[in-house]
Amino acid sequence: MTAEPHPSAPPIVDVDPQAGTAAQLRDRYELLRAKCPVAHIDRHGGYVLVSGYPEVKQVTMARRDFSSADGVFIPPTGVPPVPALEFEGPEHRAWRKVFDELVSPRAVRRLEPVITEVVDTHIDAFIASGSVDLVPAYTHPVPGVVIGRLLGLNDQESLHSQQLADAFLAAIGTPEFEPAFGTFAEYVLGHLHDRRSTPRDDVLSQLATGSYQGMTIDDQVALQIFVSLLLGGHHSTASGLAGLLNHVLIDDEVRSRLLADPETVARAVEEGLRLTTPLQQFARTSVTDTTVGGYAVDKGCRLLLNYAAANRDPDEFADPHRFRLDRDRNRHLAFGGGAHICSGQHLARAELRIGVQRLLERIPDVALAGEVKHSGLVAAHMMTIHSLPVTFTPA
Ligand code: HEM
Repeated sequence: MTAEPHPSAPPIVDVDPQAGTAAQLRDRYELLRAKCPVAHIDRHGGYVLVSGYPEVKQVTMARRDFSSADGVFIPPTGVPPVPALEFEGPEHRAWRKVFDELVSPRAVRRLEPVITEVVDTHIDAFIASGSVDLVPAYTHPVPGVVIGRLLGLNDQESLHSQQLADAFLAAIGTPEFEPAFGTFAEYVLGHLHDRRSTPRDDVLSQLATGSYQGMTIDDQVALQIFVSLLLGGHHSTASGLAGLLNHVLIDDEVRSRLLADPETVARAVEEGLRLTTPLQQFARTSVTDTTVGGYAVDKGCRLLLNYAAANRDPDEFADPHRFRLDRDRNRHLAFGGGAHICSGQHLARAELRIGVQRLLERIPDVALAGEVKHSGLVAAHMMTIHSLPVTFTPA
């Protein structure tokens, strides 16, 4: 009888898969996934970078072996634990109930006319001009205003809370973080306190009663909910919408097909999400001695799951770098997978679908005009677009 070979530790690779421009990072992800889909990176205390599709999927699904409770950001961001993202067990289930209710498919269906109205109002503001940068005028503010409407903030209040959230995100890792986070907390809690004294018919007022979906809501808990909604609801959706438009506007054939057959918009949304992967990577901690992709991973080991690299794995996605409306099986990981799969995916999909559809319907000849500016990795996990200049026939 031959003994099973003992799995070896992942090979040590001397690259930094976190620093650099979007293009440099994409090249590094490609190289790592092709040569070494499970690699040990000797930075930030040492972690295992997982970038192959089957290996990433394995970890997201193996809830008993890997935990998010030690934090999902490498390096850590300093933001207090984000619900439900950084919780496990009964606490995670309790948080999920809150978010699954707030952004349930039913809640999103009810919100769709509001999303259309918000999208149209933003288009109205630039449609007569003939040129605009879609990021500040459209892709960035729309998700902020939609989340605000969901909570019960008016549009000015939503945009202000978005600015404050932008400021604390930008300050992560610097001495300005604490004061910036404090200003954000004071502002959003001010609205909660206002609803305690003057309740209205909105979600903020429901949270202000002190209990929601069985969870006791004090100021601290409310703040955690706001952080989660704002991080998820604003920035990832803004990045997803800009990424999708970038792909659609670059390709005349894709644009014509979307205009001719609005049914294809849902497919375009999935391809946009796959290729953009707005939130590129999240960490786990192994809670037992185990293996990933055949390599030994010891208890206590930190792992970083690179959803962006997995989403371009040629063994899972034929022709992985192409935006293909005829892709049959698009099981992308842009919303993660397993127990921590994104609670807000129905809302995000609705915003992306309505956001691209209304823009093309109202401004069919909208075309990219100038340099598209991509970010590097923001707050250790997000990739976005800073500028998406377009021109069109003024209406
Ligand atoms: C295009 C937009 C979005 C993308 C790409 C995105 C992506 C993700 C990903 C990848 C995860 C899993 C993280 C992990 O594996 O550790 C996640 C979790 C989560 N997202 Fe989103 N998200 C988006 C929009 C939203 C929106 C609109 C909301 C809420 C309004 C939201 C709320 C959440 C929450 C609460 C979790 C934690 C779920 C859990 O841990 O059980 N997201 N998101």
